Amino acid sequence: MITFEHISKLYPAHDGGEDVRAVQDLNVQVNAGELCVLIGPSGSGKTTAMRMVNRLVIPTEGRIMVDGQDNSSMDPVLLRRSIGYVIQQVGLFPHLTVAQNVAIVPRLLGWGKPVRRQRADELLELVGLPPVKFANRHPRQLSGGQQQRVGVARALAADPKIILMDEPFGAVDPITRKQLQGELRRIQSEVHKTIIFVTHDISEAFLLADRIVLMYRGRLIQNGTPAELLRHPATQFVTDFIGEDQGLRALQYTTLAEIAFNLPLAQTAPYVPNANGDHASNTLVLPGSMPVLEGLRHLAAADTDGASEILLKDKQGDITGRITNSNLVIALSQALVTDGAQGLHANGSSDAGSRDGGGYSAGNSLSDTHTRDTREANGVHS
Ligand SMILES: Nc1ncnc2c1ncn2[C@@H]1O[C@H](COP(=O)(O)OP(=O)(O)OP(=O)(O)O)[C@@H](O)[C@H]1O
Ligand SMILES: [Mg+2]
Repeated sequence: MITFEHISKLYPAHDGGEDVRAVQDLNVQVNAGELCVLIGPSGSGKTTAMRMVNRLVIPTEGRIMVDGQDNSSMDPVLLRRSIGYVIQQVGLFPHLTVAQNVAIVPRLLGWGKPVRRQRADELLELVGLPPVKFANRHPRQLSGGQQQRVGVARALAADPKIILMDEPFGAVDPITRKQLQGELRRIQSEVHKTIIFVTHDISEAFLLADRIVLMYRGRLIQNGTPAELLRHPATQFVTDFIGEDQGLRALQYTTLAEIAFNLPLAQTAPYVPNANGDHASNTLVLPGSMPVLEGLRHLAAADTDGASEILLKDKQGDITGRITNSNLVIALSQALVTDGAQGLHANGSSDAGSRDGGGYSAGNSLSDTHTRDTREANGVHS
């Protein structure tokens, strides 16, 4: 678990310019096994916040607890070796082979050569790069997407509990990006790491996140599940940031069970099986955890003539809810209705929702080269 407690970062002014408040009073808890996406426009403080976790940036105020321990009391090199780190530019070491790149932290941790090699092979397999083909290549012999996969494998190498990912798929083409996102989901469902993932792509955030932390100008604007951001946006800024596909997304991130729960029928009339102890054969039975959008696709494809309801089952296969067709329509419209924007000051954030608040400060002024960044992040210190 990672907890940001009243974290602020101020970069003092240079040459008579203004101080930069990169992060302001950030309070966020990222639970173990959770993939938390930090999202926001350029310059909103995402990278700065993330880099404070492995102490590549030192906060001006506040503290970060990593598994209950204040990270400022930890040895930075050991801390970095215990945290996986993936960045957009990958930062593979050009003179090392793919397998050696993957095994860099295990080598620093003193693992023996055969164990390292075995671990590298295992991880290359996991990220879709068969080791027989790729292990002995050099980074320059890989495509951008393949290099990105090596970066993910490297971050996983020493089996860290925490992984930090800063726009890891930002530089690859859209098709490769979709593939990598899908693979990250698959890998995460196997390894259950605590991941902080920085992006400014809202689709990527909704695809990957258990929790989304939306930032603007160094401040937290909203912290919630994808469904919470859709259905209860804290400010107009959130609504604008999520964009036009909101209705479609709401159907994607609302489950059938959530809709059924809102129906008086589901609450007042428990399901009574027919004489055979079974439901009518033309009744559609779907998992309650299924997104409404997918449920509608099943409904369209199924031969349910005459059936007037969808039954919902839980993980054990027990029927736990029902949605009648006529109520489905009402419930759908309810699912699509959000609380609406609460006004700019409703949650106490000052200019958080301001759309005309001046240009976003673009990019950052980090001067590190990618390789130096990677060296530091992996605790490579001579
Ligand atoms: N070392 C630094 N010195 C001075 N200002 C900095 C430094 N690093 C970052 N900043 C400033 O802090 C603010 C937040 O930067 P940060 O890199 O965290 O933003 P970001 O949300 O990651 O943006 P992007 O999406 O462009 O990567 C920006 O205004 C940036 O210019
Ligand atoms: Mg950044």
